[in-house]
Amino acid sequence: MALLLRELGYPQGTDQQTVHWVVSHPEIEIFVAGDPQDRPVGMISFSHRPQLRLRGRVATVDELVVTETWRRRGVGRALIKQILERCKVLSVKQLQLVSPMASTPETRSFYAACGFSEIDSGVFRHLETEEGRR
Ligand SMILES: CC(C)(COP(=O)(O)OP(=O)(O)OC[C@H]1O[C@@H](n2cnc3c(N)ncnc32)[C@H](O)[C@@H]1OP(=O)(O)O)[C@@H](O)C(=O)NCCC(=O)NCCS
Repeated sequence: MALLLRELGYPQGTDQQTVHWVVSHPEIEIFVAGDPQDRPVGMISFSHRPQLRLRGRVATVDELVVTETWRRRGVGRALIKQILERCKVLSVKQLQLVSPMASTPETRSFYAACGFSEIDSGVFRHLETEEGRR
């Protein structure tokens, strides 16, 4: 997972405490794609919660990455499909994806191929919560 997070652009990866926290959280799910030898080649994490104005559950793709040598082989699409199946089971009313990296034409093509459309809504971060990450 640390290696995959590095490929996503987070050289520090994660730490064991956060992995335990995430894995044991009832409203966060992680799916890992493996190669024929069961080595991880991609992962997706998503979280979901009830939202008043939607009168139901909203879900967010938090992290999605496929290791470079396995890209363009359908792994990313399969991971999104897995999430869509979970969304059905959980009666999710809206699935969102906020790209943590600057969107490139390639990632935009991927999102579109997987059924996402870009909406005109700004995402803002409060600078005080960014302490230590700048
Ligand atoms: C974005 C990413 C997850 C896509 O995963 P992937 O396994 O390579 O994607 P898939 O093979 O399932 O592609 C599905 C479709 O998306 C589109 N697509 C994917 N990569 C593309 C690229 N580089 N250029 C153009 N279209 C692309 C294509 O339509 C593709 O279907 P096709 O191969 O039949 O033409 C992967 O490139 C990645 O990990 N990138 C770095 C991290 C990142 O940007 N993560 C997303 C931020 S949340």
